[in-house]
Formats: sequence, C-alpha cells, structure tokens
Amino acid sequence: MKKMVIRGGRALKGTVRTGGSKNATLPIMAAALLSDEPSTISGIPMVRDIRTMSELFKILGANAYVDSNMLHVQPDSIKNFSAPYDLVKTMRASIYVLGPLLGKYGKAKVSLPGGCAIGLRPIDLHLMAMKKLGAKIEIKHGYVLASAKKLKGARIVFPKASLGATVNAMLAAVLAQGRTILENASKEPEITECINFLKEMGAKIEGAGTGTITIAGVKKLNGVKKYNVISDRIEAATLIAAAVITKGSVTVENVCTGHLELFFDKLREAGAKFEIKGGSVIVKPYKGRLKAVGITTEPYPGFPTDVQAQWMALMTLAQGDTIIKEKIWENRFMHVPELSRMGADIKIDGNTCIVAGVKKLSGASVMASDLRASAALIIAGLAAEGETEIRRIYHLERGYENLEIKLAGLGANIKLENEDSI
Ligand code: UD1
Repeated sequence: MKKMVIRGGRALKGTVRTGGSKNATLPIMAAALLSDEPSTISGIPMVRDIRTMSELFKILGANAYVDSNMLHVQPDSIKNFSAPYDLVKTMRASIYVLGPLLGKYGKAKVSLPGGCAIGLRPIDLHLMAMKKLGAKIEIKHGYVLASAKKLKGARIVFPKASLGATVNAMLAAVLAQGRTILENASKEPEITECINFLKEMGAKIEGAGTGTITIAGVKKLNGVKKYNVISDRIEAATLIAAAVITKGSVTVENVCTGHLELFFDKLREAGAKFEIKGGSVIVKPYKGRLKAVGITTEPYPGFPTDVQAQWMALMTLAQGDTIIKEKIWENRFMHVPELSRMGADIKIDGNTCIVAGVKKLSGASVMASDLRASAALIIAGLAAEGETEIRRIYHLERGYENLEIKLAGLGANIKLENEDSI
C-alpha cells in the first residue's frame, strides 16, 4: 500500500491543467449503453472509478477500453444484466446502469449499494423513478430486480434533488414510450453534460440546468463518434485551494469557471487574490491570513459537497471562526480528526463544524478516509510545517489523475512511498 509524503511550507508556482470530469464521464458512459453503436468519449481522466465502470461493462458483455485518453464503448454485445455486489460496493455510480438496462432491455439486476463512509447513500429515489416509468421492482438477496415490458413516460416529482436519481431517470426515460417530465431534477453541470451527450445520441430532451427536464421517448439512439467531456470542477477547486493555502502564484488552466461561481465568491470574500481569464484561474499571493468564511453544502448552484473538505482545510488557517454546514451527506466530516492531528481547531456539532482558525499547522501522520478527505489532507499538508504522511491514500486514485505529479510540477515537495508494515 502507498502513502503520500509531503514536506509543507513551499509556495506553489507555475501552470497546471485541470483534467476531464470524472462525475460527468460516469453518467455519459452509462448513456452510451443505450445504443447498439459504439461511442467515443475524449478528454477523460484516467482514474479508478472509470476503470471500475469499464470492468462492469465487461461483466455485462459490453466492451469499454481506453486508448490515449479516449474511452471507447462498444455496447452491442450486452447479454448479462446483472451488476454484482463486489463492483457496486467499490463504486456507487455502478447504479447508473440500472436505467439504461431497464430502458433498453427491459431487465436489470443491480446490487444494493449499501452504506459507505460518507453516509447512507440511499437509492429510494432511483427506484421511485423506475416504478413511475412502469417498472416492476423487487429487492431480493441484496439486489434490485427490475423489469418492464416497455417503460412508459410519466411525471416524476423528486422530493429531493438527486444527481444520481436524475441520471437514472433520464437514462431510463429516453427510450420509453411517450413523454416524461422530471421535476425538482438535479441542476448539476454533470446533468447538463449527460443531456448534451444524450442529445448527440438523438434523444429528445430539454430543460438542462432548470430543475424541470422534459423527455420525449424515441425508439432508437445512435452512437456518438467523439464527445469531449467537460473539465473537472472539483479537481480545479482542489488545485486552486492548494495554490491559495500556500500563497502561491499558480495558473490553473482548463477550468469551467462558470461551474465554480460560489466557490470563487467565497474565495474573494476570504481575501484570496486571483483573476479569471477565459478558462484559466490565475492565483496570486496575498498578505497575512485569509478571513474565515462559512459555507453550506447544497445541490448546485450551492456550494459543492465535494469541495467541503478542501474548504475546511483552507479555513483551518483563516482568521476567525468558520461555520461549515454539510447538507448533502450526514457523515462527511471524517477529515476533522485528521486535520486536528495537524493542529487544526475544529468542533463538530451534528452536521455543522466550527473551525477556529490557527496560525499554523504542523505535519503529522494522518489517515485518508475517502476521496475528497484525501484532497483536504494534501492541501493541509502543503501548508503545514514539517512532514505530513497520509496513509490509505488509495482513496485519492478514485477521482484524481496524478494529483501528486501535478503538485510536484508546481514545486511541492510531495511523493508517493510504500507504506511500512507494522
Ligand atoms: C452527490 C452529490 C454530488 C457528489 C456525490 C459524491 C449533490 C446534489 N450531489 O451525488 O455532487 O459528487 O454526491 O459526493 O450534491 N438521496 C436520497 N435517495 C436517493 C438518492 C439520494 O434520499 O435515492 C439523498 C442523499 O442521501 C443525499 C441527496 O439525496 O442527501 C443527494 O444525493 P445524490 O445527489 O443522489 O447523490 P450522488 O448522486 O451520489
């Protein structure tokens, strides 16, 4: 097993490029299953979640392979309709195959995802949407068994905006008979991206980003010769936070800046210095300490839950008390005890944290608990005095492509080493 070792205290300098969005690629991959023709998605990040989804496609009988950052999906040979527990438990986005399998083949068996480190992660809204479209749903032996002769369009009102349930409902409805209206649908940019891809496949779907998505079912969908996926807003925010905490001079390129408006507002309020020029964010050094600025995670365009941990890392060194409220996941503060080991002063009260800013962090041995917590510990480690070693860093590989190489390119003293066994 690998650990990450960081010697903090260096101001980052230089230029770094954001990669393609993992959270946009996964729904698009699932959408590609809806055609008999192959699709190619370019600009994808080479991260473990995408390899896991490709593995799942192979189990279903479809092929998915990567060739020079282009992902090719060949969906015409699907003969198995079952997503096994062993894969679903490692990547919850596996649930995205439910909608396309049901919509195209009329059957799907997908393992229940169960809980995970950041919370319960239920799928009741996914199942509610499938039922509204006319599917029969049974839960047996830890699996969702879904079947339908032909799905029929319906009006589906989500009691809560859910990215995953919106993806599944759209992917099931595009081949259904008649019209589907999704209300209180997710407005996340990854949904807009999935809609753009579905439109290229020939789907009739409107309302991206509005909360009401209307779909007129079609009989058949074509493959997409080449689709370039948007850049990863969470990776961009992580790189910017790393530059800011070290008072660096860094240009982060290939940023979908429109997807990070609230993050930029909060950074400005905190006193960070940066400029947005086209698709680049130019971070500049600032004097003194950042000001404490609170956040509440909410569905888009609210503050992203996937940047909560990184924001907290930044605020550990701010002047004053920062209130951080997590409204998406009930157990997403596992980075708190680890940041505290590095000298941060943080109290947890239910879904709220109070971060009392300290003057400095000190390097320590810490443990990563999930993907974004890993990123937060790296950000803290870059600013801390002395050496930080982050164990269980394998979580990072799920969603960041070569983050340590990118940061080393900006002058960070950071490397992956083998963990010593005790
Ligand atoms: C969510 C985030 C996404 C992030 C991902 C991983 C939002 C809106 N979505 O996506 O940005 O990348 O986590 O951190 O911020 N829910 C139900 N029943 C369901 C499905 C969801 O109650 O069937 C609830 C969840 O418990 C959660 C909320 O709805 O409180 C949003 O969940 P959802 O958007 O579906 O989760 P992900 O798709 O994993």
